[in-house]
Amino acid sequence: MKTFEHMPYAHISLSDMLSVGSSNSKGMLFSAGWLHREIATRIAHQKRILQKFEEEMRQAGATKEVPEAVRLTRLLNTIFMDIRRFSKPRTKHEQQAFSEFLDNVLERTMDVNQAVTQGVAAFRLQLLKKGKYSKDLELGLQHFLDSFFLNRIGMNTLIQHHSIFYQQFDTHVSAKSEHVGMIDKSCRVKDIIESAVASATLLCETHYGDSPSVKIVGDADARACAVPAHVHFVVFEVLKNAMRACALKMKELEEVEAEGGEDYDGQVKVQIVSGDEDICIVMQDNGPGFSRGKLMDVWSYLSTTAGYAQVEEQENAIGQPLSIQSMAGYGVGLPLSRLYARIFGGELVLIPVEGAGVTAYYYIPKDGHKKELDEQGGDPPKFW
Ligand SMILES: Nc1ncnc2c1ncn2[C@@H]1O[C@H](COP(=O)(O)OP(=O)(O)OP(=O)(O)O)[C@@H](O)[C@H]1O
Ligand SMILES: [Mg+2]
Repeated sequence: MKTFEHMPYAHISLSDMLSVGSSNSKGMLFSAGWLHREIATRIAHQKRILQKFEEEMRQAGATKEVPEAVRLTRLLNTIFMDIRRFSKPRTKHEQQAFSEFLDNVLERTMDVNQAVTQGVAAFRLQLLKKGKYSKDLELGLQHFLDSFFLNRIGMNTLIQHHSIFYQQFDTHVSAKSEHVGMIDKSCRVKDIIESAVASATLLCETHYGDSPSVKIVGDADARACAVPAHVHFVVFEVLKNAMRACALKMKELEEVEAEGGEDYDGQVKVQIVSGDEDICIVMQDNGPGFSRGKLMDVWSYLSTTAGYAQVEEQENAIGQPLSIQSMAGYGVGLPLSRLYARIFGGELVLIPVEGAGVTAYYYIPKDGHKKELDEQGGDPPKFW
C-alpha cells in the first residue's frame, strides 16, 4: 500500500474520460484495467491523507481515539487489499466481476463523508475542551477535508462513470448518444436547474410551510460538457440555502406585515449566462444576507447558521445520521458544492450583502477539457 500512497493518481478531464473506453469490448476492458490501478491508488491516497491528519491532531494534543477515524482506516485498508486480490481484468468475465466489485466499493463507502466529518468534529472537540484549538488548526482541518473529499468525488465519479458506461454498453445504447456514463456531452443546464428548483421547493415547503418564488431567466438553451449529477448537487445546495434564508425572513416578518408594517416577498432569481468559455449560473436571493466578515465561516465545514455549534450540541450530533434531506444540517453544503464546482475546472463564488441577500456565481466550463483538480486544490483563492 505504501507504494501506491506515493504514486501520483491520474488527473483526467471529462474529455479524457469520454475517450478512456470507446464503446467496444476492447475499450471496456481497457477502462476496467485502468481503473484497477487507479482506484487502488486513490484509496491509498485517502488512507495517507487520513493518517497524516490524525498525526497532526495528536501532535496538537488530541489523546483520545476517534472511533470514526479508526473505522475509516480499517475500511480503506480492507478495500485496498480486496482490489489487490483482483488481477487486472483481461477477459470479459473478469471485467464483469471487477465492475461488480467497483459498484460494491461505492456501497461500502457510502457513509464515509458523514463519518469523516463527524470524526473531524470529534477531534476538534477534544482540542477545544483542552483549550488547544487555534485558527491554524481550523485551517488544517479545512484543508484535510478539502483534500479528502476532492479525492473521493473524483474516485466516485470514475467508478460511477464506468458502471453506467458498462450498463449502456451492455444494453447497446448508441455510441453517438450525448450521455456517456456520468457525462452529458451537451448538458442543458436549464433542465437541471428546474429539477433542483422542484426538489428544493418541496423541501422548503415541507420544513417551513412556505417557499419563496423562483424565477429562471437567461439563455434557456445554454449547454456544456458536464456531469449533470455534479451540476444538480451545486445548484440544489445553493438554492436550498437561498430558499431557507428567504423562508426564515418571511416567517420573521409575518407579524410585522400583519400589523401593517413592511411588506416582504421572498424571491430567488436564477439567471443562466452563456459565454464563450463558461456557462455562469447566477443565483440571487433577497433574504437577510450576511456580512463579508462571515464569509470564511460560511465556507467552513464546521460552521452552520448558529456560527460554530456549541461543544455540547456537537457532542449530541456525533453519531447521529446526517440527513441528506434536511434543509440545513452540518454546514457542509457550500464547501462540498465548491469542490463539485471546482473538480473539473469550474468555480463557485458567493457575494453576500448584509440585509439585502446573497448572490452566488457558479461557473461551468463548456468544453470539458479542464483536468481534474488535485488534492491540494481545495484552498479558496485569496480574493474570495
Ligand atoms: N443565501 C444565504 N443567505 C443567508 N445565509 C446563507 C446563505 N447561504 C448560506 N448561508 C449561511 O451559510 C451557512 C453555511 O451554509 P451550508 O450550506 O454550507 O451549510 P448549512 O446550510 O448550514 O447545512 P447543510 O450542510 O445542510 O447545507 C448557513 O448555515 C447559513 O448561515
Ligand atoms: Mg446548506
